[in-house]
Amino acid sequence: MILVTGGAGFIGGNFVLQWFAGEHNEPLVNVDKLTYAGNLDTLSSISERDDYFFEKVDIADEAEIKRIIAQYQPRAIVHFAAESHVDRSITDPGAFVRTNVVGTFNLLEQARHYWNDLPEPQKSEFRFLHVSTDEVYGTLETNDPAFCETTPYQPNSPYSASKAGSDMLVRAYYHTYGFPVVTTNCSNNYGPYQFPEKLIPVVILNALAGKPLPIYGNGQNIRDWLYVGDHCAAIRLALANGRLGETYVVGGINEKTNMEVVHSICTILDEVRPRDAGSYAEQITFVKDRPGHDARYAINPEKIQTELGFKPAHTFETGLRETVLWYLNNNEWITRVQTGEYTQWVDQHYAQARGV
Ligand code: NAD
Ligand code: DAU
Repeated sequence: MILVTGGAGFIGGNFVLQWFAGEHNEPLVNVDKLTYAGNLDTLSSISERDDYFFEKVDIADEAEIKRIIAQYQPRAIVHFAAESHVDRSITDPGAFVRTNVVGTFNLLEQARHYWNDLPEPQKSEFRFLHVSTDEVYGTLETNDPAFCETTPYQPNSPYSASKAGSDMLVRAYYHTYGFPVVTTNCSNNYGPYQFPEKLIPVVILNALAGKPLPIYGNGQNIRDWLYVGDHCAAIRLALANGRLGETYVVGGINEKTNMEVVHSICTILDEVRPRDAGSYAEQITFVKDRPGHDARYAINPEKIQTELGFKPAHTFETGLRETVLWYLNNNEWITRVQTGEYTQWVDQHYAQARGV
C-alpha cells in the first residue's frame, strides 16, 4: 500500500492514473482536501477499484493524518499536496504557509512516529517521497548555468518560499531523525487534467473561446517544460531507487519563452481546429506583469539521468500536441471545471455523508 497526498490534483491525479495503468497492482490511498484544485472527475476511471481508497482530509489535520497512517499502514508516502499557483500565493500567502509548511510538517511528524515503531524490514524499506519544485532556486539570468541539486535556495514568491520551507523540513527530518526521505525538484509540468489557471490550459481554452491570450509582461520569461507523465515516471524511479536524504532535480531540457509556448499552441490549433479567419495568435494580448516574476528557470537533470536512468518519453513538441488534443477531446471534464460543477458533487456527497 502506498499513500499519496494531493492525488486529486494535476500531477497527483496523473500519478494515480499511471500507478494503476502499470502492470503491478499495489493498493493506493489518496489523501486530498479537495481544494478548488482537487477534482475527483480526473480519477473517475479508477475510483471504483477495490485497491483504490480515498480520504477527503487536510494534511494539516493531526488526528486525521495519524488515523489514516495507522489504518492503511503504508510502505511509502508520496507527497504532492500543496497550494501550487504562484499568482494565488501573491493574493493569499497564508493558505500556502498553512498547507505547504504546516501541512508538510504535520505529515512528516505523523509519518515519523509511525515509521519509528515499524518492525524490520518494513522500517528500513519505508520511504517518504517529497514532490517539490525548481522555483525554490529562484531565478536565472540568460547565461547562468541551469539549476542543479547544489544550487542555493533563493525563493522569490510566497509559493516558492513555502515550498522551500517544506523542503527544509524534509531535509531536517533525514538529518535529525534518519527519517527516510527523497526529494524531487521539478520544472514546469504540462499535460492532461491541468487546472485552467496555469499558462498552457489558460491559453488553449481562451483560444478556443475566442478570448484574449494573456501574456504577462513582455512574454520573454523562460520556463523549462516537462510532460506530466514523464514527471510521474521520474517520481516512481526516485521512489524505487532514490538514495536516502538525496534530492533530484527533474526536467526535460525544454527551455522556452512564454511567447514561444503560446505561439506553438496557436500553431497546433490553427492546424487541428482552423478558424475561418486568421490565426489564434491574433488573440495574444500583453497584460500587466506578475509581481516579482522570475525571469528564467532551467534544470540540469544529469543526476537523475545517470543515477536513476531517467529519460523523458516526450519531447515538448509531442507532449504539447498530445495536450492540446486532450483539451479538445475532453469537453466534459473542462465544462465541469469551468462551471464549478465538479465541486458541487463533492459538496452534495459530503453533506449527505454528514447527514445534512
Ligand atoms: P495542484 O494545485 O493541481 O493540486 C494540488 C492538490 O493538493 C489538489 O488536489 C488539492 O486539493 C490538494 N491539496 C491542497 N491543499 C491540501 C491540503 N491542505 N490537504 C490535502 N490536500 C490538499 O498542484 P500540482 O500542479 O498537481 O502540483 C503537485 C505538487 O507538485 C505540488 O507539491 C507542487 O508544488 C509540485 N510541483 C508542481 C509543478 C507544476 O508545474 N505544476 C512542478 C513541480 C512541482
Ligand atoms: O517551475 C515549476 C512551477 O511551475 C511549479 O512549482 C508551480 O506549481 C507551477 O504553477 C509552475 O509555476 P509558474 O508560475 O512557472 O507557472 P504558470 O503556468 O503560472 O506560468 C508560466 C509562465 O507563464 C510564467 O512565466 C507566468 C506566465 N503566465 C502565466 C499565466 C497563468 C502568463 O504569461 N500568462 C498567464 O495567464
